[in-house]
Amino acid sequence: MTRVFDVRTEPAAIAFAAEVIRQGGLVAFPTETVYGLGANALDADAVAKVFSAKQRLLNDPLIVHVGATEDRPDVISELVRQDILGALSAPQHAVAQNLARAFWPGPLTLVLPRGERVPLIVTAGQDTVAVRVPAHPIALDLIRCSGVPIAAPSANRFGHVSPTTAQHVLDDLDGRIDVVLDGGPTPIGIESTVLDLTEIPPVVLRPGGLIRARIEALIGPLRDRSVGAEDSAEHDARPQQSPGLLSKHYAPRAELRVARTTAELIETRRVLMGQGLSVGLLIMDAQQADCAGLAPVFTLGHDLDSVARNVYAGLRALDSAGVDVILVSEVEAQGIGEAIADRLKRASRGRPASTPSD
Ligand code: TXA
Ligand code: MG
Repeated sequence: MTRVFDVRTEPAAIAFAAEVIRQGGLVAFPTETVYGLGANALDADAVAKVFSAKQRLLNDPLIVHVGATEDRPDVISELVRQDILGALSAPQHAVAQNLARAFWPGPLTLVLPRGERVPLIVTAGQDTVAVRVPAHPIALDLIRCSGVPIAAPSANRFGHVSPTTAQHVLDDLDGRIDVVLDGGPTPIGIESTVLDLTEIPPVVLRPGGLIRARIEALIGPLRDRSVGAEDSAEHDARPQQSPGLLSKHYAPRAELRVARTTAELIETRRVLMGQGLSVGLLIMDAQQADCAGLAPVFTLGHDLDSVARNVYAGLRALDSAGVDVILVSEVEAQGIGEAIADRLKRASRGRPASTPSD
């Protein structure tokens, strides 16, 4: 049975959930990005349960969430001392510490050499581990109370859209996990930026909640993971370095298509409906007038921060409405738009709105 607690009215639930973590159970909790599904990162059996609850493949490594840093000026050295991180080169250490001081707690995940205490199941057998300090009071309290680092992927079924509310978690995982801590909707709404610091210059494995420009302002230009080869089914079947990058990931049940303009969005809707398909629209405030009367419509807000916050809820809502196809307008890949555009591309498998067969 899954027990759900609203932490806003039952703050004592955090201590209960921390005990569940210590006993090897699974707890879903809010972070500033999306809800995570947590287990004691030092307990291989507990971590194995995360993979089976999510139906996640064992070749997909988890992020280890560690506690607040305000009283620890050199959190990276501390993680090395605790054997969560392995031996770092001097430049690696300097860059990691620089980033940690600037952006933790926050939506930045750092991939660094794995320490001996982190079981291999957490890292999918790799000698690197992903770590982050989440900027959410419930997540930080849970980590502090349980006294262990918490391994947590997003709390959704594998390949599905990440959860930004406790209800989303239940929709995917009710009955499969022990506890859900409800802390309301997550403030950023899109996953953390994953940065590989074992490469110089560091490589962006996944754009996310911390925008590239802020990182580059601190440590200089970043590299991108080479793109192209990974966007194929054949690639998906091979062991993954960072499987959040699977070509079909973050996907709703309905087919998602990305339109370049509002005119294309509306025209594609007309064509698809002519083929007998039901169509839902995911739009911004500015498109509302043009899309009046074209229900079902889910409105994402007026700026990119609102789009990030609402996009997963929108995909889930239109899925629940039972549409065959979801149409959304392209987002400019700037600032937080880079992460949004990345998720829309993956969820749509790069499919444009109008295809030749239309
Ligand atoms: O915002 C977030 O990052 C959320 C919250 C809960 O913290 N978590 C999250 O976890 O999105 P998940 O498992 O859905 O995505 C983690 C990403 C995956 O793309 C995974 O492949 C990558 O991080 N990753 C984890 N460990 C890695 C490693 N050692 N090397 C490279 N990539 C790694
Ligand atoms: Mg995920």
